[in-house]
Amino acid sequence: MHSIIGGRSAMSEEKAMIKVAALCGSLRKASFNRGLLRAAIELSQEQITGLHVEFIDTSSLPMLNTDLEQNGRFPPEVEEFRQKILEADCCFFASPDYNYSVTPLLKNALDWGSRPPNVWAGKAAAVVTAGGGGGRAQYHLRQIGVFLDLHFINKPEFYLNAFQPPVKFNDDGDLIDSSARERLKDVLLSLQDLTLRLQGNKS
Ligand SMILES: Cc1cc2nc3c(=O)[nH]c(=O)nc-3n(C[C@H](O)[C@H](O)[C@H](O)COP(=O)(O)O)c2cc1C
Repeated sequence: MHSIIGGRSAMSEEKAMIKVAALCGSLRKASFNRGLLRAAIELSQEQITGLHVEFIDTSSLPMLNTDLEQNGRFPPEVEEFRQKILEADCCFFASPDYNYSVTPLLKNALDWGSRPPNVWAGKAAAVVTAGGGGGRAQYHLRQIGVFLDLHFINKPEFYLNAFQPPVKFNDDGDLIDSSARERLKDVLLSLQDLTLRLQGNKS
């Protein structure tokens, strides 16, 4: 039992552990966006209480083809992927623009998750971008999120122009820019806040 202190339960003072499914739009080994996800995992471990960020590998998902669905079952990789999203409290996307839109890797994952029952429904989400631009893909993703019933944080927005000096990533794609790391932390805190609100754990 949790005690009631001043009209509020002690449980509401504690931060629940939030599971974040982190998805990348790029397959490149030294991807900047994958680097943002690694930085997010580090930040959640070192600086943010109550947030567990897990990278969800979407590289082995087959290209969406509804012929692969048999008797209401999906291919094993898809089943596993969908289960991971179902178990997550919220989603964190890091993706470049590909020709002003989301990348095929990300769209394929979104589409597999959308097959009934839609595993994205009702979850909070955030999107960040490292690359040249990033704005258009983010707005396309937000638009897709309307149909998937994903709830994106509006602020802060996060775009990181990886090609402008100073250097922000090393050769392995690790984020080495401390101010970008701070901004990334603010995005994660905002995602945590919205997730708690949607789950009714915060007024
Ligand atoms: C097919 C393709 C399309 C791209 N289209 C855009 C674009 O529309 N706008 C942009 O700013 N950058 C574009 N880029 C550049 C990417 O933003 C850049 O390569 C970025 O570093 C990729 O992210 P990654 O480092 O995570 O792989 C494109 C790259 C590719 C391969």
